Amino acid sequence: MMNKQKIIIDCDPGHDDAIGLLVAYYSDELDLIGVSTCAGNQTIDKTSRNANNLLRFFNSDIKVAKGETDPIKRKVKTCPEIHGESGLDGYDFPKYKEEYDSRPAYQFIIDTVLANKDIIVVTTGPMTNLALAISKCPDITKNIKEIVLMGGSTTEGNITPEAEFNIIVDPEAADICFKSGVPLRMLGLNVTRKILVNNKVLTEASKINTRGSDLFVKLMKVFNENQRTFFGLEFGPLHDPATVVSLINPKAFEFTPMHVEIDVTETKYLGKTRCSKSKPFNCMVATKVNLEEYWSTIFENLRRCK
Ligand code: BDR
Ligand code: CA
Repeated sequence: MMNKQKIIIDCDPGHDDAIGLLVAYYSDELDLIGVSTCAGNQTIDKTSRNANNLLRFFNSDIKVAKGETDPIKRKVKTCPEIHGESGLDGYDFPKYKEEYDSRPAYQFIIDTVLANKDIIVVTTGPMTNLALAISKCPDITKNIKEIVLMGGSTTEGNITPEAEFNIIVDPEAADICFKSGVPLRMLGLNVTRKILVNNKVLTEASKINTRGSDLFVKLMKVFNENQRTFFGLEFGPLHDPATVVSLINPKAFEFTPMHVEIDVTETKYLGKTRCSKSKPFNCMVATKVNLEEYWSTIFENLRRCK
C-alpha cells in the first residue's frame, strides 16, 4: 500500500465540513494527523464542539486545536440560517468530553507543518488560522506541499453577487494565503454548487446503513431544508468534501491553472476571487466535477464508518 498523504484540516463544522472530516478520516489515501477549527458557520466555541463531537464519533483520538474568535481584521459573521444554532443541527451526539489541544490553532499549524515535510493543509472555512500561522512563521511555507481550499468562485458568489462565504468572512486571511507562494488548489462554488444532495443521493446513502450513512442522512436533511428556505435551492450543495475528494480521487475534478487574487477593497467586490488565465498562475482551480466519481468516493467512506 502506498504511503498515505499527511493532511491537516482547518474547518468550521458545519454540515458539509462534517462530511469532509469523515471522508478524510476514513479514507485509505489520506492520513489525517490533526484538526483545527475556525469561526465561520458558527462561533468558535460551537464549531470546536462540533469538531470534537465528530472526532469522538469516529473514535479518533485527535484533539481539536481551537482557532481565533474573529477574523484578522473583522468581526466574525456566522451562518445559523444554513447550519442552525449549534452549527451542526440535525444529529444528537452523545455527551462527549470536551478536551482540546492546549495550543491555539495557528500554533498547532506551525508546529505540525514544521514537523512534517510535504504536508497538505486543507481549509474548509475562513482562512484566518492558516494566514496567522504563515504571518507568524513564514518558514512553514517551505514545508507545505499544497493548500487545498473550499472557497471562492470563478463565477458568482453566494453571500454577495461577487463573493463566497469562506473568502468574504476573512478576505485579508485569504489574501495572505493566496500570496504565500505555496501551491494552491481551489474548489469554489463554480463546481461545488453542482454537487447536490438530491433524493437519489439520499436514497443511496440510506441503503449503506452504517453509523456514517445515518449521520450523513440526518445532517443532510436539515442542510437541504435550510438551503431551500434561505437560498431557494432545491437541494443543498455539498461544498467542503470537494477538497478531500479531489485528493483521494483524481478522477473527480478537472483543474485549470489560473492566477487568483483576492479583492480586499471595501467595495461591492470585497471577497471576490479574481481568476485570470492570462497572468502567471498561482492556483489550480477546479473547473469541472465528475459527479459519479465524487459520490462513489463519499459513499465508499460512509461505508467504512461502521
Ligand atoms: C462554504 O460556506 C460554509 O457555509 C460551508 O461550510 C462552506 O465551507 C460554502 O460557501
Ligand atoms: Ca465550511
